[in-house]
Amino acid sequence: MTLEINGRNAEALIKSSEISKKVQRLGEQITRDYRDKDLLIIGILKGSFIFLADLVRAINLNPEIDFIIVSSYKDSMTPDKIELKADIGASIKNRHVLLVEDLLDSGGTLDYVRDKILSERPASLKICALIKKKKNNQKGVPVDYLGFEIEDKFIIGYGTDFAEKGRNLPDIYIIWDREHIT
Ligand code: IMP
Ligand code: MG
Repeated sequence: MTLEINGRNAEALIKSSEISKKVQRLGEQITRDYRDKDLLIIGILKGSFIFLADLVRAINLNPEIDFIIVSSYKDSMTPDKIELKADIGASIKNRHVLLVEDLLDSGGTLDYVRDKILSERPASLKICALIKKKKNNQKGVPVDYLGFEIEDKFIIGYGTDFAEKGRNLPDIYIIWDREHIT
């Protein structure tokens, strides 16, 4: 199925049924791993809001949930510098923290947030990302729980956007092929 977002064609990549199966499995895995721990889940906004909402309901524990707002992309598809828009409210020290991100491209965003959390000395820190782009992650950020690995394409849907549009799409679509801009 194709649709048009901000004047570009978008082509279906991952169906919502496939996403929900994967999210369920990630939730089960996290439930097992944190069974005896007091878990603090931190979502990176805005991109992770839908993934996080589904994931926390697939986790059969009693976690605290908080957010950080950072922005790395503005109105274009070019990576920007990372800007902290709203900080984490919860105290991190000695907590078991699980960081939740929609997708890992260069790794810059996760690297920034990860360093910030580590500087506050958590008891542990793990990362859960729905999607990782195969060619990237120059920062070598370790991902402990991963949903999907995809080719280096620009995607939208399920929380991810192109110029702030497309976040509410239940499926994930490819909207740009990197080869076309280089
Ligand atoms: P990174 O800092 O390069 O790893 O980029 C990660 C952030 O940029 C993610 O939080 C996404 O919100 C955004 N981003 C990266 N690639 C895409 C994409 O293909 N579509 C939409 N957003 C993206
Ligand atoms: Mg994001």
